[in-house]
Parts: sequence; structure tokens; C-alpha cells
Amino acid sequence: MDKLVIEGGKPLSGTIAIHGAKNAALPILAASVLACGTVTIDHVPKLLDIGVMLDLLRELGCRAWHEGETVVLDTAPAHTSHVPETLMRQMRSSIFLMGPLLARFGEVQVYQPGGCAIGERKIDLHLQGLEALGAEVIELGNRIICRAPRLIGNDIHLAFPSVGATENIMMAAVLAEGRTTITNAAREPEIQDLQRFLNKMGAKIMGAGTDTITIEGVRRLEPCRYEVIPDRIVTGTVMVAAAATRGQVTLQNTNPAHLTSLIHVLRRCGVQIAIDGDIMKVSSSARPKAIERIVTSPYPAFPTDLQSQLMVLLAVADGTSIMKETIFEGRFKHVEELTRMGADIRVDMNAAFIRGVPRLYGATVEATDLRAGAALVIAGLAAQGRTIVEQVHHIDRGYDRIEQMLSRLGARITRYSAVPDNRVVPG
Ligand code: EPZ
Repeated sequence: MDKLVIEGGKPLSGTIAIHGAKNAALPILAASVLACGTVTIDHVPKLLDIGVMLDLLRELGCRAWHEGETVVLDTAPAHTSHVPETLMRQMRSSIFLMGPLLARFGEVQVYQPGGCAIGERKIDLHLQGLEALGAEVIELGNRIICRAPRLIGNDIHLAFPSVGATENIMMAAVLAEGRTTITNAAREPEIQDLQRFLNKMGAKIMGAGTDTITIEGVRRLEPCRYEVIPDRIVTGTVMVAAAATRGQVTLQNTNPAHLTSLIHVLRRCGVQIAIDGDIMKVSSSARPKAIERIVTSPYPAFPTDLQSQLMVLLAVADGTSIMKETIFEGRFKHVEELTRMGADIRVDMNAAFIRGVPRLYGATVEATDLRAGAALVIAGLAAQGRTIVEQVHHIDRGYDRIEQMLSRLGARITRYSAVPDNRVVPG
């Protein structure tokens, strides 16, 4: 298992370009099977989760190549809609294949993707949506079979604006007969990206980005070439790292409109943010101010995926902040690790009470999930002394060689890879 060794206390400085969005690319890659032929997706980063999705598509019979930041898929040879359990358990997002495979083959077999460190992560809303489109859903233990010789458009109201459920229903409805309307739909930018991709293949979808999405079923979709949006969570992670190290960082290839809630919060902390098109300049020279209350909520409110990163900045802020996590019930696992670095944080149910301390101190800590791991890297950059972050594979799921990205900004960070004889060598 790889480790990251970080010598903290050095302000980040320089310019970085942000890679494509994991959470846009994953549903778009899954949706590619709705058309038969060569689909090319640009701006797709080399991430572990992307690799798992490409392995899943190959397992279904597709051919897939990932050269640089471009993925080329040949979806014509796809011949099965049974998703292997082993791959399902590697990545929850494999559930995105349910809708498109059901629409293309009339049947799909998946497995409960299981929870993860951040929570139970049920899929009941996904299954209810497919049932509303006429699918028969059979659950045999953790195996799920959905059958629908014909999918019929319907009005679907989501009890919660689930990102994945919204996307799965969209992908199933594009080839259904008639109109589907999703109300209380999730509004994330990645859903708007999925709408643009599907419409470029010939779908007729409107409303993504609002809470009501309408899909007019069509008979077939045609392959296309498409470029995914920048990763707003990677962007936000780098912005917080710049602030936490009191550095000066220019971020290129961003979409500031996707980060209005974070920009607002960082400015309240006293961070300077200058915006010029897709470029943001983030700088900070003073101790951040505490924020009385932050609540994670569905987009466009403050995103749960930036909760752990912001907590690091608040952990060294001047004052006490309260952060409430309303999306996932288990997304405070980074708190224990941060307290090992000297943070003063108390958790009560889904609220974290963060009393700012003057500084953090290096320690050996463990990444428990993707964004918690990113937060620990930020903490190591800001801390006095050496931090070793273990279980780095969690971070590699969503950040393309994070140590190279941060080294380009002056960070003293090295990856050590474990070799068979348990020696560790620089990566
Ligand atoms: C997507 O996950 C993202 N992943 C997550 O990013 C993100 O945190 C989340 O949306 C919320 O914004 C991808 O896009 C690949 P949800 P998803 O369905 O679709 C409950 C990251 O770090 N729920 O909106 O799984 C669920 O338990 C990842 O990049 C049900 O109860 O999120 C959770 O509490 C982490 N039943 C809440 O809704 C369902 O059928 C939000 O889940 C579905 C969800």
C-alpha cells in the first residue's frame, strides 16, 4: 500500500490546470452503452474509479482504450448485461450501468454495491425509478435482476434528490416510450453534463440543473465525441489547500459557477479569490476566520464532497466553527485523524464542533475514504513537521497523482510504494 510523506509548513504557490470530473465521466462512460459504435470521451483523468468502469465495460464486451485524457469506447460488441459482483464491490458507481443496460438489453443483473466508509448508501430510489418505468425488479439476496422488455415513460418524484438515482433514471428513460418527468431531481453540474452528452447522442432531455427534468423517449442514440467538465471537487480541494498553507495559487480550467458556495465560504474566512473566466487566483496571508455554521446539502448548497477539506482550514481558524453533515451519516472519519495532528474537534451526531488551534502538527494518519484522504493531505501540507498519509489508494480513486499535482505547486510531498519484500521505495 502506497504512502505519502509530506514535509509541512510551506505555502503552495504556482499554477495548476484542473483535470476532468470523475463524477461526470463515470455516468457518461456508463451511458455510452446506450449507443452502438465508437464513443470518444475527452478530458477523462487516469483515476482508479475510471479504470474500474473501463474494466466493467470490457467485461460486458465493449472494447476500451484510455490514452492520455481521452477514452475511446467501442460499444458495439457489448453482449451481456450481467455485471460481475467482484467489480461491483470495487466501486459503487458501477450502479450507473443499471439504467443504460436495462434500456439496451431489456434486462440487467447487478449486485447491491454495498456501503462504504461514508455511509449505507442505499439504492432504493434507483430501483423505484426503474420500476416506475415498467421494470420488474427481483432481489435475490444481494443480487438484483431488472427486466423490462419495454420501458414506458412516467412521472417520477424522488423522495431525496439523489445524484445517482437521477442519472440512472435519465439513462433508462432516454429509450423509453413516451415522456418521463423527474421531480425533486438532483441539480449537480455533473447531471447537466450527462444531459449534454445524451442530447449530443440524439436524446431529448431538458431541465438538468433544475429540480425537474423531462425526457422524451427516442428510438435510438448515435455515438458521439464529448468532453467532460472540470472536476469541481478537485478544484475546491486545491483552493482549500492554497488557503490552508497561506499560499498563492492560480487554478486554470475551472468552472467558478460550480463552486459558488465554497467561494462564498472561503471569502468569509478571509481568503482572497480573484475570478477571470475559467481562471481563479486564490491567496491567503493571514490565519483564517472561523465560520459560525456550515451545513452540507444538495447542490447548489455546500457540497458534502468538500466537507472534510474545509474542516482542515477551520481546524486552524481563529474561533469556533460548527459543521453539519446532512448527506452521509458516516462522513466524519477524518476527525479522529485530524485530532491526532492536534486539531480540537468534537463530533455529536452529524455535527462537528471545531475549535480552531494555532497550528497542526505532523503525524502518521490513515485515509479512510477518498475525500477524507484528501483532507489529510491538506492537513499535512499545513502542519508543522512530517506527516505520513497511509492507504493512499483511497485518494487515487478521485485525484490523478495528487503528489505530482501538489509538487508542481511547491509542496514537499513524496509517494512511497510498498514493494513485495515490504521495503518502501520512492514512487
Ligand atoms: C454522488 O454519489 C457522488 N458520486 C458522491 O461523490 C457525492 O458525495 C454524492 O453524489 C452527493 O453529492 C458520484 O457521482 C460517482 P446520492 P451518489 O445518491 O449518487 C441516499 C465522491 O467523493 N440515497 O446523491 O451515491 C444515500 O444513502 C463521491 O466523489 C438513498 O437513500 O449520492 C446518501 O445518504 C462520494 N437511496 C444520499 O442519498 C438511494 O437510492 C446521497 O446519495 C440513493 C441515495
